[in-house]
Amino acid sequence: MWPETIDVLLNHRSIRKFKSTPIPQPALAKIIEAAQQASTSSSMQCFTVINVSDQDKRKKLAELSGNQAYIEECPVFLVWCADLYRYEQAAKLHYEGELTSTVENFIVATVDTALAAQNAAIAAESLGYGIVYIGGIRNNPQEVSALLGLPSHVYPVFGMCMGEPDQAPLTRPRLPQQAILHENSYDQEAVESGIQQYDGTIRQYMLERSEGKLNTSWSESMAAKINHPRLHMGDFLRSKGFLQK
Ligand SMILES: Cc1cc2nc3c(=O)[nH]c(=O)nc-3n(C[C@H](O)[C@H](O)[C@H](O)COP(=O)(O)O)c2cc1C
Repeated sequence: MWPETIDVLLNHRSIRKFKSTPIPQPALAKIIEAAQQASTSSSMQCFTVINVSDQDKRKKLAELSGNQAYIEECPVFLVWCADLYRYEQAAKLHYEGELTSTVENFIVATVDTALAAQNAAIAAESLGYGIVYIGGIRNNPQEVSALLGLPSHVYPVFGMCMGEPDQAPLTRPRLPQQAILHENSYDQEAVESGIQQYDGTIRQYMLERSEGKLNTSWSESMAAKINHPRLHMGDFLRSKGFLQK
């Protein structure tokens, strides 16, 4: 028997339909406490999470994220922001000069944010809630930033819907382990064979999930994805003071 934590991790699947039951405040506070306890580069804690409870803002965010209705419908919607502003404010108490936002600091802030968010996701799932990340908020990052009043050196990395699941989707199979775990050096052959094997697995999964309507392999979805890059993020991030050096 493996510890229950492993079961929680292995049962993860994104939830896109929620009951309207609210998440009690103490549970949400505990989830955020778990997020804060994630490892953080040099204890910089470079993230801020915005709980969007205002329904008009939710509606707008749903539109800005490609009309993903569950952003409006879920009991809790969180926007996870990478935040160098707080770091700068703290450092300024003892340091004269401006923050030069380096690529390194961009990585630090983005990684800190993702680690905290994933801790929150696991905490929520361990309490029986479901989540889905929303990268769609980066479709219109400028507008999202303005709506949430994000200062310079803060950017929205992703949103997260959270609440009691009103659906029970299948868990989505992952790549075979040999494709992602290599010993001592990168194994390109294992990648190739892993993709082939996984294509079959995902085709089967898609057929099952769609009751025979979708017959798509993983590599086909990746080809579709690679064709639609979000090209505006570099300019947006520089306009928010990131990636200066
Ligand atoms: C950073 C990030 C952004 C995502 N953005 C969206 C999104 O905008 N809309 C959505 O429905 N799912 C989104 N997802 C969920 C992924 O599609 C999902 O995690 C992936 O297909 C694997 O499925 P699973 O979570 O059910 O295992 C996102 C996931 C991550 C990690």
